[in-house]
Amino acid sequence: LTMLAAMWKWTCLLCHLLLFTITSSLARQPLPHPKRPFATFPGEPAEGTFNHLVVDEKTGYIYLGAVNRIYKLSSDLKVEVTHQTGPDEDNPKCYPPRIVQTCNEPLTLTNNINKMLLIDKKEKRLIACGSLYQGICKLLRLDDLFKLGEPFHKKEHYLSGVNESGAVFGVIVSYSNMDDKLFIATAVDGKPEYFPTISSRKLTKNSEADGMFAYVFHDEFVASMIKIPSDTFTIIPDFDIYYIYGFSSGNFVYFLTLQPEMISPPGSTTKEQVYTSKLVRLCKEDTAFNSYVEVPIGCEKNGVEYRLLQAAYLSKAGAILARSLGVSPDDDILFTVFSKGQKRKMKSLDESALCIFILKKINDRIKERLRSCYRGEGTLDLAWLKVKDIPCSSALLTINDDFCGLDMNAPLGVSEMVRGLPIFTEDGDRMTSVIAYVYKNHSLAFVGTKSGKLKK
Ligand SMILES: *[C@@H]1O[C@H](CO)[C@@H](O)[C@H](O)[C@H]1NC(C)=O
Ligand SMILES: *[C@@H]1O[C@H](CO)[C@@H](O)[C@H](O)[C@H]1NC(C)=O
Repeated sequence: LTMLAAMWKWTCLLCHLLLFTITSSLARQPLPHPKRPFATFPGEPAEGTFNHLVVDEKTGYIYLGAVNRIYKLSSDLKVEVTHQTGPDEDNPKCYPPRIVQTCNEPLTLTNNINKMLLIDKKEKRLIACGSLYQGICKLLRLDDLFKLGEPFHKKEHYLSGVNESGAVFGVIVSYSNMDDKLFIATAVDGKPEYFPTISSRKLTKNSEADGMFAYVFHDEFVASMIKIPSDTFTIIPDFDIYYIYGFSSGNFVYFLTLQPEMISPPGSTTKEQVYTSKLVRLCKEDTAFNSYVEVPIGCEKNGVEYRLLQAAYLSKAGAILARSLGVSPDDDILFTVFSKGQKRKMKSLDESALCIFILKKINDRIKERLRSCYRGEGTLDLAWLKVKDIPCSSALLTINDDFCGLDMNAPLGVSEMVRGLPIFTEDGDRMTSVIAYVYKNHSLAFVGTKSGKLKK
C-alpha cells in the first residue's frame, strides 16, 4: 500500500510537471497548423513506378496506370479494383499482328509499362495502353475495370513500340452525333515505318469493333497521319519527337513536343544537335493533316534562355491575371516549365523557369505565318519533315482564324520562336511538373520539383 501511495504521488507529481510544461509552452508559442494526415498508396512493392494517373471528375475515383497493373482507387486511396496487364511473353523485335506474321525471336517474360491512360467520358471506359506487343490497348469499364475490348488483330491497333512511359500522348475529341476521335502522338523509337508520329483514330462506341483505332481517313494518297521520313534519320540518326503534353481548344488539337534539331551556333558554320521545344497544332476536323503547323516555343529571363520543355498545363486566365495580361478571364493560358539551355534532354539542367503563354497569341502568330506563306514568302521551314527547303507558293485566298490548310504549303513550320512570359525561376531544384486552375478569380499554379517538393 505504501509503495502504491508513493508511486501515485510520484505519478501525480510527474503529471503536474508535464501539464505545467505543456501549458506553459503552449502559452509561449502559437500552435502550429494542425497537420491533416495524408493518405498514401504504395502499390505492390515489386512493381516499381507508377506511370500515369487520371481522376474521374464525376465520381472522384482515381485511376493509376502502373507497371503490370491498372488500379481503381477511392479518393482516400483505398484500392477498389486491380486489373492485371502483365508481365507476359514478348520480344520487342516481334512485329504485329502476330496472328498474321509469326515471330521467330525468343520470347521472354516482359513487364507491361503503362504508356497512356485516358478516361473516355462518353462511353464510361478507360483506355489503357501498355508497352507489351508494340503498344496495344485495353478498354476497361470505369466501374469495375472489366475488360470491354483489347483490339489486336490489325496493324492500326499497335500504337507505339516505345517502352518508356512518357512517350505517348492521346487527346480525345468528342462528338454528340458520331464516333469520337482519338489523336495519338508518340515517339517512334527508330521505327517510323511502323508508327506514325501523329495520327487521328476512330474511337468506336463498341469496344470490340473492327474499326477501333482505324485512321480517321486513309486512301492511297492521303491519310490522317504524319510519319517521320526515313531521310530525316540520315541527317539526325536518333531523331524522334517526344510529346510532353496535349489538349484540345476551340477547333484545334495541340501537342507540346521536344525534338532534336541541327543548328549552327552564332558565328559558326558547323552544325550541332540541340533540342527544340515546339507547339504542334492540327484542326480537329482535318482528315488529311494539311493543317499541321509547328511553332518553336521557349522562354527567357535576365538573358538566360530556357528552351527545354519539362511539363505543361492548360488553364484559364481568371479575372485578375486576365486584367494584367489584357485578355479575357476565359482565355486559355498555357502554364509551362522549361529548363535552361537547349542541350541534351536527358541531362536537363536544374535551372528552370515557369512561363505562361496566351494561346490566342500563338494562334495569331500561326495565322500571320500562314498568310505570309500563302503570299509566297519564305519556305515551309520544317526541316525534319521536308529535308529540302520547299518554297511557299502564293495563292489568293482569305486566311482567317479557323483556316485548316490546303494540300499546298503544308505542313508548315514557323521559324521564329514564340516567347512565354517568365513568372518564376528556380535554380537549384529543377521544376518538373505543373498544374494550374482559377480560384476566386486568382490564377493558382502548383509546380513539383525534381527532389519531390511542391510549390504553390
Ligand atoms: C525497354 O526496352 C529496352 C530494350 O528492349 C530495355 O533495355 C529496357 O530495360 C526497357 N525499359 C524498361 C523500363 O523496361
Ligand atoms: C471575380 O471578378 C468578377 C469580375 O471582376 C467580380 O464580379 C467577382 O465579384 C469576383 N469574385 C471574387 C470572388 O472576387
